[in-house]
Amino acid sequence: MATLYYLILAPMVYLAVAVSVLGTLWRIARLLRAPAAPPPPPIYPSRKPSWLFALGDALLLPSVFKHNAPLWAALGLFHLGLAALFLGHLELVADFKALQLIPHSIFLGKGLIGLTVLVCLMYFLCRRMVSPTKELSVPEDYLLLVLLLFTVLFGAQMDWARTWFGYSSMGVDEYRGYLSSLIRLKPSVEGVTSAGHSFMLVAHVFFANLLIMAFPFTKLMHAIFTFAMNKFRRG
Ligand code: HEM
Repeated sequence: MATLYYLILAPMVYLAVAVSVLGTLWRIARLLRAPAAPPPPPIYPSRKPSWLFALGDALLLPSVFKHNAPLWAALGLFHLGLAALFLGHLELVADFKALQLIPHSIFLGKGLIGLTVLVCLMYFLCRRMVSPTKELSVPEDYLLLVLLLFTVLFGAQMDWARTWFGYSSMGVDEYRGYLSSLIRLKPSVEGVTSAGHSFMLVAHVFFANLLIMAFPFTKLMHAIFTFAMNKFRRG
């Protein structure tokens, strides 16, 4: 079991990051080499500066708001939650002065961010099981949502165990020791594999690794291309 934990917590993380970075570069290079596409038919009245309206489309999703306000609210909460999760993970590596301007305990959100993101993911998944979204969905849509759901579920469970139920055998110091050892390319997993609930971290990192590897080959790439696509549509 110790070997399996080590393989998931150390070599698999490096593999996931390598696949993700190389895959993303390959996708961008392929796109840059593709022949230029003809401009799309105008769907919005032309407004200048178009890059500003494209930025607004990418960040505020006005067309989703017009057609489905509950989906718009869930998407907003979900993406704000992801941004907070990113900051929370940064704080699991080291202290960041800018983040300390608002006093808080680590991890950000006292377990509520994980809960919010989890509820949004369940809503997205249920939505895909009902007509008409069901007919428009492909297996990749469900697979990605399930992968996200498992990653978030195990991450949030660890946080709840620690902050809501007093599990103290694995905390910020142990996570910092583990994550900074990964960054120094001298992986050390001892501090995070001896707690009774270490399996939660192993499961969390296992699903996160799959997600990170899937990034360049799935719809997750919209995170990189969304502004460019909206700019293309705005002309
Ligand atoms: C290899 C990459 C990752 C590592 C090593 C990692 C590690 C961790 C650790 C140590 C925690 C702290 C648990 C605690 O507070 O006790 C955590 C929390 C969490 N992680 Fe990750 N994580 C990774 C990637 C991800 C990804 C890709 C996602 C989601 C897209 C994610 C979602 C979460 C969530 C939702 C929480 C709990 C936050 C909360 O409830 O407030 N993690 N993660």
